Formats: sequence, C-alpha cells, structure tokens
Amino acid sequence: MPSQQGLWDAWHGQAHGPDAEPVHREFLDTFLSQLPPPDGAGPLLELGCGQGHDALYVAGCGYSVRALDLSPAAIERANDNLGAHPDADVRFLQHDTAMPLPFQDEAFDGIYSYLALHYFDDSTTRSVFSELRRVIHPGGTLAFCVKSVRDPLFGKGDLLEPEMYSLDGHVRHFFDPRYATGLLRTWEALRITESRGRYLDSRPSGLLQVIARRPADEGVAAD
Ligand SMILES: C[S@@+](CC[C@H](N)C(=O)[O-])C[C@H]1O[C@@H](n2cnc3c(N)ncnc32)[C@H](O)[C@@H]1O
Repeated sequence: MPSQQGLWDAWHGQAHGPDAEPVHREFLDTFLSQLPPPDGAGPLLELGCGQGHDALYVAGCGYSVRALDLSPAAIERANDNLGAHPDADVRFLQHDTAMPLPFQDEAFDGIYSYLALHYFDDSTTRSVFSELRRVIHPGGTLAFCVKSVRDPLFGKGDLLEPEMYSLDGHVRHFFDPRYATGLLRTWEALRITESRGRYLDSRPSGLLQVIARRPADEGVAAD
C-alpha cells in the first residue's frame, strides 16, 4: 500500500479551521454526552486528530486528551493551535494508528476519531480495533466516523481489496454497517448511523457514524 504520510503532510501544509459542518459538531457532542463528567473521567484518546480542533474543543469541556496523527505537519499545527488554549490538558503526538498504540491497557475512558479510521486494509483495521479495545477502560465509549460505501468516491480508482480503493494516491477503505458490526463483535454497539455531510470545503460525503461501548462486565468474551 502506498505511504500516505507525504500526502497528509502536504494537506496540512495549509492551516485548516475547525470543520463547521453540523454532522461533525453533533457527532462530537454525542460522544461527549456518553462520557462521565470531566471531574470523574479518565483521559480520552483521539486518533487522526489533524490540526487538533476537536481535541481542543473536548479539552475545553474539561477533559484530559491525548491526540495522535500520522503527519508531523498536522502535529506542528495542532501544537500551534494549542498555544491559544494555555489551560487545555492536551498532548499531541505523531503516531501511525496502524502501529501498536503507545499506551497501557485500559488507559482511556473514551476514544474518538473523525474521518481517520478508513485508511487501512482489512487486516490492519482489525489490529487497530483490537488495540482500541486494549487501551479503553471497561465501560468506556468509542466513537468514530468513517467514509461509507455510499460515498461518491466509492468504486473509483484501483481496487486494492474489497471496499478499498486507491484514487490519485489516496487510499480509502469504505465501511458498510455490516463491516462495522463485525469489527465490534466484542463491543456493545450503541449506534451505527449512515449519513451525509461535507468535510471542510469538500463535496458531500457518505458517512458511517458509530458509537460503541466496551462492556463493563468483564465476563463478556474478549478478542
Ligand atoms: C480527513 S482528516 C481528519 C482530521 C480531523 N480528525 C478532523 O476531523 O479535522 C484525516 C486525518 O487522518 C490522519 N491520518 C491519516 N492516516 C493516518 C494514520 N495511519 N495514523 C494516524 N493518522 C492518520 C491525517 O494526517 C489527517 O489529519
């Protein structure tokens, strides 16, 4: 699979403001509504945080956040944005989500990712979800939004494996609800919703929004 880091570094060469699309803001607020209040919650993790706007919003609500992105250019911009939020408890780290996460087991009360988990082949996606389950605390909430098979770009470009295409160097693995359900076999799926929305100035995308919980009852089968 072609490396995607150069492509994302180039994209982050420009500053992007927060995505004001309602579907994005509502999803982030739904994630927050599933969490314990900040004074009783452990840290939260964001994967593919880009320039840090969502992590800073969540930190502004009082949570402690660790936020990762593949692109050093994104992390540099996120740290610049952090400058305007001196009280925010956020740490931005350059890290490839496809690699094991640099955190202890059960370190987080919540994990969030917006348009950053649909870049991996099936085998890597399954490893990523095993890592998410490892680092989330029992009872913790996972919220992610990915491109769906109803996206206008689905089926365009070179087929890499089922539901996964490379178009002009961009690799995308489009999810359908059944695929998401399969990934969440050892989670409690709270919501799997298909919707449409823009991201920044792009054309409308097909989205799959998922909220799930790691069962608090450790008697439930693990991976
Ligand atoms: C469409 S942007 C979304 C950024 C941010 N979540 C937001 O909503 O504004 C996708 C982000 O995923 C990051 N990304 C792509 N592949 C990644 C990987 N393997 N590991 C971590 N981050 C990755 C990109 O650098 C980019 O910042």
